[in-house]
Amino acid sequence: MCLVIAAGKQRMKKSIVWATAFIVMTGAVSAGEVEDRAAASRAAVKQFSGVLKGQLVDAIKTGGPQSAIEVCNLTAPQVAEEVSMQKGWRVARTSLKLRNPTNAPDAWEKAVLEKFEARKAAGENPAKMEFFEVMDNGGKKEFRYMKAIPTAEKPCLACHGAKVKPEVGKALAKLYPNDKARGYNKGDIRGAFTITQPMK
Ligand code: HEC
Repeated sequence: MCLVIAAGKQRMKKSIVWATAFIVMTGAVSAGEVEDRAAASRAAVKQFSGVLKGQLVDAIKTGGPQSAIEVCNLTAPQVAEEVSMQKGWRVARTSLKLRNPTNAPDAWEKAVLEKFEARKAAGENPAKMEFFEVMDNGGKKEFRYMKAIPTAEKPCLACHGAKVKPEVGKALAKLYPNDKARGYNKGDIRGAFTITQPMK
C-alpha cells in the first residue's frame, strides 16, 4: 500500500519535473497569463477609445466635423503614444482601408482584420470581436491583441461615410490625399485597435 503511494508520488514528482522542463524548453505560456494579458489589453482599449471619443465629440460640438478632423489627425496618434508609453506596449489603430498610411497593418494584423470581416460575414457582431495570441518575434515572445472597431452612425459617418459635407471632404483631401477610409456604413468594421505586449 505504502509502496504503491510512494511509487505514485515518485511518478508525480517525475512528471512535474518533466512538465517544468517542457515549459522552460518550449517557453509555454500559461492560460492564466494569456487571460491576464487579454484583460489588460481590453482595459487599455477602453482607455484609448474613451479618451479619443470624448475629444472627438467635444470638438464636433464646438467647431463641427471640419475642425474635429484636426483633433483626429493630431490627437489620435498622441493618445496612442501616451497609452503606449504608460504601459511599455505598442498601442495603435489600424484598418484594411486606411486614412492615414502610417496606420498600415503588418502581415499578422492584416490577417486578423480579414478574419474579422469573415466573422462578420458569418453573422458575428463586430462590437465584441477580438483576437489574441502569443507570437514569437525572432526568439522574443510577444502577446498580440486586436479588437474590432465598429462604425457607428454618429459621429463616424460624418467623416467616414459615403456622403460627407463638402468642407469636410475638402479638409480630408488636403491632409490625406490617398484617403481610403470613406464610404462606410453603420455597422461596418472601420478597423481595429491593436496592442503588442513584449513578454519576458
Ligand atoms: C471629424 C472627422 C472624423 C470623425 C467624426 C471620425 N473620424 Fe476616424 N479618422 C479621422 C481622421 C482625420 C483619421 C486619421 C487619423 C490619423 O491621422 O491617424 C481617422 C482615422 C481613423 C482610424 C484609424 C485608421 C485609419 O484609417 O487611418 C480609425 C480606426 C477610425 N478613424 C475610426 C473612426 C470611428 C470608429 C469613428 C466614429 C466613432 C470615427 N473614426 C470618427 C476623422 C474622423
